[in-house]
Amino acid sequence: MDEKKKMKMIIGSDHAGFTLKEKIVSLLKDLEIEVEDVGAYSTERTNYGPIAQLVAERVVNENIKGILICGTGIGMSIMANKVKGIRAAVVHDTFSAEATRAHNDSNILCMGERVIGSGLALEITKKWIMTKFDAGKHAERIQFIRDYESEIR
Ligand code: RB5
Repeated sequence: MDEKKKMKMIIGSDHAGFTLKEKIVSLLKDLEIEVEDVGAYSTERTNYGPIAQLVAERVVNENIKGILICGTGIGMSIMANKVKGIRAAVVHDTFSAEATRAHNDSNILCMGERVIGSGLALEITKKWIMTKFDAGKHAERIQFIRDYESEIR
C-alpha cells in the first residue's frame, strides 16, 4: 500500500495579496499538498504584520514550509525574517525560486500580487516547492546564519 505522506504547508496574505493567494491555494490542492490558509479571507484592508508573524512561527514550530503574499512581498518578508529560524525570500522569477531553495534553504516564499501576474506566480510556486536544498557548502553558510541568530537572541 502507498503510504506516501502528504506535504503540509501554511499560507497567508494581506488584502493586497488575497486574490493571488486564492489561486495558489487551488494550485497546492491540485498538487495534493495539505494547505492551511490563515487569511486574509477578503480584500478588506488589513495589516500584513500579524499574518506574517503567525505563518513564520508555525513554519518554525512545525518544521513546514510557508507562502506569504502581499502587494510587493516585501513587508511580509521583513516581518517573517524577524522570527528566529525563518529564511523568507521575495521571489519574482523562476531562476531565483530554484536558487533560493537550493542555496538558501528558504522556508517561506514571499511574492507580490502587484508585481507579477498569476501565471508566473504559479510557476514560481511549483519550482520553489519541487526544488530541494543542495546542502554541502550551502549548509555551512546557513549554519553561519543560525549561529548569528543564537548569539543575538
Ligand atoms: C498594502 O498597501 C501594501 O503596502 C502591502 O501589501 C505590502 O506590499 C507591503 O509590503
